Amino acid sequence: MVGGVAGIVAHRGASGEFPEHTMSAFEAAVAEGADAIECDVRLTKDQHLVCLHDRTVERTSDGTGAVSELDLADLRAMDFGSWKRPGHAESVVTLDELIELARTSGRKLFVETKHPVRFGAMVEQKLLATLQRHGLSHPDDPADAPVVVISFSGSAVWRVRRNAPGVPAVLLGEASRLLGGGAATAVRAQGIGPSVDSLRERPDTVAKARAAGRFTYCWTVDSEADVALCNGLGVEWIATNHPARTRSWLRG
Ligand code: G3P
Ligand code: CA
Repeated sequence: MVGGVAGIVAHRGASGEFPEHTMSAFEAAVAEGADAIECDVRLTKDQHLVCLHDRTVERTSDGTGAVSELDLADLRAMDFGSWKRPGHAESVVTLDELIELARTSGRKLFVETKHPVRFGAMVEQKLLATLQRHGLSHPDDPADAPVVVISFSGSAVWRVRRNAPGVPAVLLGEASRLLGGGAATAVRAQGIGPSVDSLRERPDTVAKARAAGRFTYCWTVDSEADVALCNGLGVEWIATNHPARTRSWLRG
């Protein structure tokens, strides 16, 4: 995001056209000119962070089971592409692999921690250790950090801010929850992340966040009217499943 123009975040990659969280979706996001990529992360049974949204693999692969009960090798043996593009088999993507793509392509990452109850804070611990290993925990300029952690969980945001003060964090939720600023202040979030549905109801959320020194990350913005709404309000980051289309609407 540069000079007041909204930054485009490819939600689960360019997931409108490509199978979410696959390398084809992430590479298409880069090719389509997205400024950043959003991904969800979950822990496998053998403690690898993988880019997957659901608790189980049934919807987006040819396998079965809960991610937390499967090893990375089990996931590697599954096809995460053909459900969306028949005949195009794809591998699960690890967070390490996505970080490498982001590094080589110069894209920012918005990493969302998903929370299997039995793992609790282990997801953040593993995420922060991964960022540390890649040298991403202490950005020169936090306002231009290469990785932002996003979460619906206030506890997760608070733990990230406490344990990695250089890593920015966004508290996700409905605008009505974020509007007053108290929830974000309590967990020291630098940004708020309302859904676009809730932002339509309370567009004043963006100006209030800015007045409190916070940026806004809005999801999931897939219609021209919603892109115009976010751009008009000065939303800093627009997460969309369709980066190329969003880019053309913003130019238009
Ligand atoms: O970017 C935030 C958004 O992804 C939250 O919802 O369910 O798509 O992870 P979900
Ligand atoms: Ca997400």
